[in-house]
Amino acid sequence: MVKVEINGQIVEAHEGDMLIDVADDAQISIPRFCYHKKLSIAANCRMCLVEVEGAWKALPACATPVTDGMKVHTKSAKAIAAQKSVMEFLLINHPLDCPICDQGGECELQDVAMDYGDDVSRYSEGKRVVSDRNAGALIKTDMTRCIHCTRCVRFGQEIAGMKELGSTGRSEWMSIGTYIEKSITSEMSGNMIDLCPVGALTSKPFRYTARAWELKSHSSIAAHDSMGSNISVHSKNGRVKRVVPRTNESINEVWLSDRDRFAYEGLNSEDRLTQPMVKENGQWIPVDWETALKVTVEGLQKELSSSKEIGVLASANSTLEELHLLQKLARGLGVENIDFRHRQVDFSDDEIGFHTPLLTQEITAVEKADVILIVGSYLRKELPILNHRVRNAVVSNAAKAIVVNPEVLEFNFNLEHADTEQGMVSELAGITKAVLDISGNTSQEWINKVAPTECQKEIAQLLCKAKSGSIMVGQISQMHPDFSTIKVLTALIAAQISANLNILPMAANEVGAHLVNFLPKSGKNSSEMISSSLSAYINLNLEPEKDFTHGNTALSAMKKANFVVNLTVFDSNAQREYADVLLPIAAFAETAGTFVNVTGIKQSFKMSVEPQGDSKAAWKVFRVLGNMFDLEGFDYTHTNEVLREVLDNQTTQIDFTGISCQLPKNNDSEVELVSPYAMDALVRRAPSLQATPDADAATMGRG
Ligand code: SF4
Ligand code: FES
Repeated sequence: MVKVEINGQIVEAHEGDMLIDVADDAQISIPRFCYHKKLSIAANCRMCLVEVEGAWKALPACATPVTDGMKVHTKSAKAIAAQKSVMEFLLINHPLDCPICDQGGECELQDVAMDYGDDVSRYSEGKRVVSDRNAGALIKTDMTRCIHCTRCVRFGQEIAGMKELGSTGRSEWMSIGTYIEKSITSEMSGNMIDLCPVGALTSKPFRYTARAWELKSHSSIAAHDSMGSNISVHSKNGRVKRVVPRTNESINEVWLSDRDRFAYEGLNSEDRLTQPMVKENGQWIPVDWETALKVTVEGLQKELSSSKEIGVLASANSTLEELHLLQKLARGLGVENIDFRHRQVDFSDDEIGFHTPLLTQEITAVEKADVILIVGSYLRKELPILNHRVRNAVVSNAAKAIVVNPEVLEFNFNLEHADTEQGMVSELAGITKAVLDISGNTSQEWINKVAPTECQKEIAQLLCKAKSGSIMVGQISQMHPDFSTIKVLTALIAAQISANLNILPMAANEVGAHLVNFLPKSGKNSSEMISSSLSAYINLNLEPEKDFTHGNTALSAMKKANFVVNLTVFDSNAQREYADVLLPIAAFAETAGTFVNVTGIKQSFKMSVEPQGDSKAAWKVFRVLGNMFDLEGFDYTHTNEVLREVLDNQTTQIDFTGISCQLPKNNDSEVELVSPYAMDALVRRAPSLQATPDADAATMGRG
């Protein structure tokens, strides 16, 4: 530790720490533009110039390491003069168009100019103008406002892993842009909007819809993947206008995926169902809640009384409270066909129990891994925030990444091996056998016939050298017809090399769905429910025709049923064809609840805005239905009471290593990539995301 004096205040710091960080820790503010704590130091804006005693000129605080006895002045005449001249230079070419700039009111340049700028410029020359390029559906560029801090460029190189923006020209002619006319395609691209200190990069969907000072901010949790990213929902006049990240260093740091940032657009879709509807003689009639619930209860009672089977399906993006109450209602009615796993097709290991998918290590610990085996996953698109941690491990910790996928997919870090030739299960079986051979483990007789290739042996060597290995089993595996075999093979490797086996949950509350037993303990799983055509279905927050891997089978099962009730945020023609009752429920941001994230952390959130129209929070609908069916224990007044009921539930971990398998033929062709922007009803209705290359699985990640 060293002692530094800043503005007369003695501060302790680690030798070599940058002066700007030391000052920040001591609550001494130094203006800055190019410096960002998550990016490398560029020191190109010079706004952070300070006076350091003994130095003949002002020094940039972001690039000056502290030494013992250093005396610094951030507010001396010399420091202020330096800061003011930098501000004057920055404003020479800036258009000063704050009244029409979306960044107005939350612009770092505007704020700093208030302290260090002059009222009147000494320059009367014409200003430089930079023409804009179309950067895609998410980011609007106004490059005349750019101050060349290069935060966006460094974000692309260091965080997104894609050099999509860069600087060309020098001095007066320097400009930032895409090198070729091309949209920005990173799945984390929206973070550049937050990073840009001026209005050069702003949000296209949000543009001109509100001023920063008109917005109310609500803390919430992202609802589209299992990371549980912390967010702030910004609303105006009761409508969500944008979503931005909230810092949580142990989960999403300061970042957010584009899906979690822009999916809010779907909330204001024209498809919103805002009034209960019932079908009478083939005609849809808007009704009040009382009538709709009465029709629901009568319809379900009729099917129950004739001992017909009811299926209960839900999206795992529903809250813990909603899922708990729906399964409680179903079980109260004697229904055991309960499931949320509509993208899964192989359920053969259900008979040994329900393994809770989890990241079995801290999210931050992923960065410390030295070997990472990714199995059946386009991690970049599935869980961008987790992929960012994996990328950090590869880039900063020299971790070796190995991918076993059905086809070659573009990752944003170097891969040691990317095997696709033999098909996923055969590749994995070869690697597993080679790992067992190296370790001299002959206990798994069923795998003895496998003859590993040279490449598989090399991968096994790498895996066996791992001191801190991590295996990530992703969405492609989850949708694979041999998912259970993949679990056994990866579990064997993990056990042999003492790696963390991470069978990753995908939806926002998949772990929560397991915690509340939203599973067919003694009933039909989701695949059986649609293939055996039950007589009635209750669907929560689900569009079976789009959310099931076998959407057509699901659709025809719904059409064949006598009675279908959908608790839904959206209206659609497909639903109108097969459903009998449509109950409008509150969407993400319109209800309170809890999500359980990829590592099992429960995060509760409050309602950000009122539900639209006559929509109601789904948990309240289940409470009323429970009472209408005369079931015990449905007298909740708050989501907290529901949460308390499930707080002590534990996740279930199954040891797959003791299971012997029949190694199947190559079934990879049966797995289709699904775009992250097709994964749930809300994101499917976000027009800006749907206009990006990632909306189509064929162009996803390929620009
Ligand atoms: S566009 Fe914004 S973030 Fe990028 S260099 Fe210009 S001012 Fe900095
Ligand atoms: S913040 Fe230090 S030079 Fe830009």
